[in-house]
Amino acid sequence: MNNFQYYNPVRIVFGEGQIEQLSDLVPTDARVLITYGGGSAERTGTLDEVRTALSANGNREVFEFGGIEPNPEFVTLLKAADQVNEHNIDFILAVGGGSVIDGSKFVALVSSLKEDDGTVSREKAWDALIGYTKKLDSAVDLGAVLTIPATGSEMNSGGVVNYSERQAKLPFGNPLAFPKFSILDPAKTLTLPDSQVMNGVADAFVHVMEQYLTYPVNAKVQDAFAESLLKILIEEGHAVKADPNNMETRKNIMWTATMALNGLIGTGVPQDWTTHMIGHELTSLHAIDHARTLTIVLPSVMRELKDSKKDKLLQYARNVWNIEANNNQSDDEVIEAAIVRTEDFFRDLGLPVSLADADLDDSAIDPIIEQLEAHKMVKLGEHNKNDLTVSRRILERATTSKAS
Ligand code: NZQ
Ligand code: ZN
Repeated sequence: MNNFQYYNPVRIVFGEGQIEQLSDLVPTDARVLITYGGGSAERTGTLDEVRTALSANGNREVFEFGGIEPNPEFVTLLKAADQVNEHNIDFILAVGGGSVIDGSKFVALVSSLKEDDGTVSREKAWDALIGYTKKLDSAVDLGAVLTIPATGSEMNSGGVVNYSERQAKLPFGNPLAFPKFSILDPAKTLTLPDSQVMNGVADAFVHVMEQYLTYPVNAKVQDAFAESLLKILIEEGHAVKADPNNMETRKNIMWTATMALNGLIGTGVPQDWTTHMIGHELTSLHAIDHARTLTIVLPSVMRELKDSKKDKLLQYARNVWNIEANNNQSDDEVIEAAIVRTEDFFRDLGLPVSLADADLDDSAIDPIIEQLEAHKMVKLGEHNKNDLTVSRRILERATTSKAS
């Protein structure tokens, strides 16, 4: 196991009906900006619950900013940041999924980057996004009410922002962006469309894979936790499809998705975020949901990198899918069997496993490679060896599904 520091200050408040805890969690004299997405929080009554809880105790001044898009848009977020300054906001409360929470983290970090006229500077915020966010030394406090289990944003300090004008979807991170608290009410997930539930299961699954599927460093805790999370996601992914209203299933999916990307299983182990980085370009160029880009790319990453990931792929086959090699089976055959099981799982959830499944063909590849180059995603992987040639081969493999 490699050396590590683990720090996670996020208070998790988990369970049905817990939104009322906001009256204690948000400082009583705060000037609060509630941030939310395209309207689901209003429609489902969650926003009303939030408003009621905030008015219950103290003298908070509450403002609202709605309209943060899925794959939150840079330009929209700058408008929210201007609101932070205009109303002297000292607490941002994000109500929504990964997009709203990520977007709110970005707002919390960049609202102090102003022009002389007091508006938030587009250029400074862009500079922050392309690499300097981690150097920012102040941020507005932030809390979250999670409405879709998927990204883990509720318990980590990172996010992803989309800047359509520049065809860029880029990750950022800063410890100041850890939420002070996150409320996880599994009942809030019952209003999700099926496709978003499945997206969430798949995103969490791939988060675990990107921290697990590298090479062994004898990190027994991280490996066993990761394998357990994967098995739970497989079991509960099927369960939620069969019985969408089962609250026990919803609870387990919600907590698993949080655990998948709160830093714990990624401590002291190599990581490989190749699937995510290629996936971000697919979202930015073709507006494919984040999780669906991952299920398209991951099987091909596994196949293309099967030699450098061989030990972990065999461990994955054995411990997650119970595939035991018989005497006549080669390692490659065992690995291929595990990849096919992974694809079948994604398909069962109604998710694409190839570019063709998303109505794209090999003409999509060149623009993705150009974008990866433009965003300096040229040394991906646990060995920093996944250059553009490797990414191209991954995408070529992903054109059609091998198992289809
Ligand atoms: O916008 P509204 O109207 O709220 O609708 C949303 C949106 O259309 C809807 N929704 C959310 N909760 C709902 C609901 N509809 C009904 N009932 C509810 N309870 O669901 C749609 C998707 O929401 P979104 O927030 O975009 O989904 P998700 O949580 O999957 O977030 C995706 C974003 O997170 C980033 C992705 O790149 C993407 O931009 N990620 C963030 C990460 C992080 N911070 O660590 C890691 C991830 O890998 C990921 O990259
Ligand atoms: Zn993800």
